[in-house]
Amino acid sequence: KKGNYDHFMQKEIHEQPHSLTTTMRGRLKDNSVVLGGLKDHLKTIRHSRRIIFIGCGTSYNAALAARPFLEELSGIPVTMELASDLLDRQGPIYREDTAVFVSQSGETADTLLALEYALGNGALCVGVTNTVGSTLARRTHCGVHINAGCEIGVASTKAYTSQIVVMAMMALAIGADKISTQARREAIINGLSDLPKKVSEVLKLDGEMRDLAKSLIDTQSLLVFGRGYNYATALEGALKVKEVALMHSEGMLAGEMKHGPLALVDETLPIIVIATHDACFSKQQSVIQQLHARKGRLIVMCSEGDATSVCPMGSCRVIEVPQVADCLQPVINIIPMQLLAYHLTVLRGYDVDQPRNLAKSVTTE
Ligand code: F6R
Repeated sequence: KKGNYDHFMQKEIHEQPHSLTTTMRGRLKDNSVVLGGLKDHLKTIRHSRRIIFIGCGTSYNAALAARPFLEELSGIPVTMELASDLLDRQGPIYREDTAVFVSQSGETADTLLALEYALGNGALCVGVTNTVGSTLARRTHCGVHINAGCEIGVASTKAYTSQIVVMAMMALAIGADKISTQARREAIINGLSDLPKKVSEVLKLDGEMRDLAKSLIDTQSLLVFGRGYNYATALEGALKVKEVALMHSEGMLAGEMKHGPLALVDETLPIIVIATHDACFSKQQSVIQQLHARKGRLIVMCSEGDATSVCPMGSCRVIEVPQVADCLQPVINIIPMQLLAYHLTVLRGYDVDQPRNLAKSVTTE
């Protein structure tokens, strides 16, 4: 079933132009988005006081990537909950809330317990899952299947990008009644149609990421800084590296750099800075300058053609990625990180598809 690939994770990374196509199939129509499983509930969602994203691990990170765009298009406050933390706190959830549960397997215990809790509190519960007939799909009031195809590698890759695309489509559907954002919505819909092609382009970085992995093979630790749409990319990229390559790695909000992490910077610690072109670009440029001034070992991910403006002295390693609509950029930017984690794992000699101590579906609390 792995075809020409050595591992399922590798196959699933390279499958993403196809999995994203199936995620969108039949759902983009003449400048609008049709999500059959959601359309009867859109009115209720538009009237909710708050949308709460709930998930664990990679699924939580996918929701975090979609959050800015959902806030922008819906005008509704969107809050984030790690399922276990919501349960630990017994955080307040109300009838006027829409709770969106994100889970590849649809069987994660923490997420399902949080779902029962939200149902008990009277919230509208929406599911985003890859598994038809899963407990999550059955227990939620409504939802959207991500249709990414079966994911076998324990590290989630293609499900992550499909989850982001589904949540972007949800944001487009929820915001569809607003005239003021029509042009923006149309631009994003065009961007979605183009996305599989751009994903094929970014996959060509495979060899470059293998070289980068070689240069990092013996390092103890890796930091990843992102912000805005790509805060999630930093968290998810670091999660991939730690879970499969068994290397300590932390994703951080670049805006928090001066509030502590800057103390870690020296000539040896590799730091990946995500600085693709969006509204936060100039802020990321100054982050790069500050890291540079402290002789940080920098690897910068930027939009094609931006290499000299992000790295004027040619002193850092640059990963150039194709540019897409700002809110879809996390789908592109995570792919070099997935490739890096994959190659690091192979080079370090660890089990790619079955990392030690981990299970594909976490069915206990
Ligand atoms: C990371 C990973 C885990 C899962 C998490 C939630 O690659 O796979 O972090 O994302 O256990 O799983 P689901 O999405 O099935 O609820």
